Amino acid sequence: MEREILVIDAGTTSTRAIRFAPDGACLGQHSAPIAQHYPCPGWVEHDANEIRDASFACARQMIDAAGGSDRIAAIGIANQRETVVFWDRSTGEALAPAIVWQDRRSADLCAALIDRGEEAGVQARSGLLLDPYFSGTKIAWALEHWTHLREAGDRLAIGTVESWLMWHLTGGAHVSDATNASRTLLMALGSGSWDDGLIDLFGVPRAALPEIVDCAGQFGTTSRFGGSIAITGMAGDQQAATIGQSCLARGETKATYGTGAFVLANCGTTPPVSRNRLLATVAWQIGGRRTYALEGSVFVAGSLIQWLRDSLGLLASADESEALARSVADNGGVYCVPALAGIGAPWWRPEARAAITGMSFATTRAHVARAALEAMAHQTRDLKTAFAADGADWKTLRIDGGMVANDWMAQDLADMLDIPVERPGFAETTALGAAMLAGVGAGIFATLEDAAAMRGPIEHFLPTIADSERTRRVEGWSAAVQAVVVKR
Ligand code: G3P
Repeated sequence: MEREILVIDAGTTSTRAIRFAPDGACLGQHSAPIAQHYPCPGWVEHDANEIRDASFACARQMIDAAGGSDRIAAIGIANQRETVVFWDRSTGEALAPAIVWQDRRSADLCAALIDRGEEAGVQARSGLLLDPYFSGTKIAWALEHWTHLREAGDRLAIGTVESWLMWHLTGGAHVSDATNASRTLLMALGSGSWDDGLIDLFGVPRAALPEIVDCAGQFGTTSRFGGSIAITGMAGDQQAATIGQSCLARGETKATYGTGAFVLANCGTTPPVSRNRLLATVAWQIGGRRTYALEGSVFVAGSLIQWLRDSLGLLASADESEALARSVADNGGVYCVPALAGIGAPWWRPEARAAITGMSFATTRAHVARAALEAMAHQTRDLKTAFAADGADWKTLRIDGGMVANDWMAQDLADMLDIPVERPGFAETTALGAAMLAGVGAGIFATLEDAAAMRGPIEHFLPTIADSERTRRVEGWSAAVQAVVVKR
């Protein structure tokens, strides 16, 4: 019998382990929730030990289901990006809460650096912008405010979630793959190495950082689950989804609608430069060679529907949003700008706050639910405009993530973007991409193109609405978003 590929996908709200056959068949999965901690407004923390323990418990369950560790050919890791973990090299224990990508606590630091005129230089070197989203500003904040981290001296290790998991899987390897490293604000995009100037700017002790490695290769072995298993694939979850969607040629673009929404367009082997507030990032690195992407990061997508359900009580379940959206002829003039955690690309205003506009006595909860779902297409359309202005317009968009099971939303994306939208039958593209990388790293496939045979059938959504209706929506959204984008 062929051996399997096991993926650990450590996401923001849950972590999971998924078993794949080399032909791409999903053989089983098990997930566990990750508790979200909000100690102050704008702060978001995770317990790093919980991420580790829950991820490994899921992995163990899947390895047992497969019949033991000798049934597993390789492990691949995909992870929530930018979230930063601090731990003690001598004990392996976390020294502080993990500061999550959504956390805004370093907003003042970013504003001060922008006022000092640092952003252009930072963008030229890292491909990123000065926003609290990225790990470097979170590390700077932590080293300033959590004195015990500084006092840990040489014992301090800092890494993103894949580094933290790799440390514990291997018993002490300190590595980060190039996609995750490219989200820290500390890596030079062109060379794939830590950048001394950026490390100095954020006051990060270089010795605490991991070694930057490829996304596919022999990264180490783990004996945590019985016999020895090689770890051969690693990537940030959005890059893994880009690979899982087979965006392997220049111009191919995917959008993942999970907690947030992240659009990545393959830009080939030269680092792209955005003049329209998009991010330049590593799509993958194999054999020391990098493929790059332009990225538009939207901070609030599925979390908007969760908030409508859990905080406002407007929905009984997330699925109800589709039926409510279909129950009304249009949005009734209601627009939702979901800046619940500031607003990301292409605006980048951490201080912006959300709004629901255009309500009257005729407004029902169905209009609000519809406006919330429509916000996904509206935000994506703003990104499309920015990508086009950067010379990377989309011909089609490959969509995935928990939200796109909603047929109404998939059709609305096609209608508002005015391009075909493609949805894979198998929704776990992030895990599939990590499996493809692990398959290449383990020598099961020679290239990512070969590994793309793991991808299954695709469903197509074509634009159907009249231009006049699209224009009405674009104008309504533009007015609403302008009202919440606070100018500095
Ligand atoms: O950049 C943040 C992103 O990696 C989070 O993805 O799927 O955990 O919401 P997800």
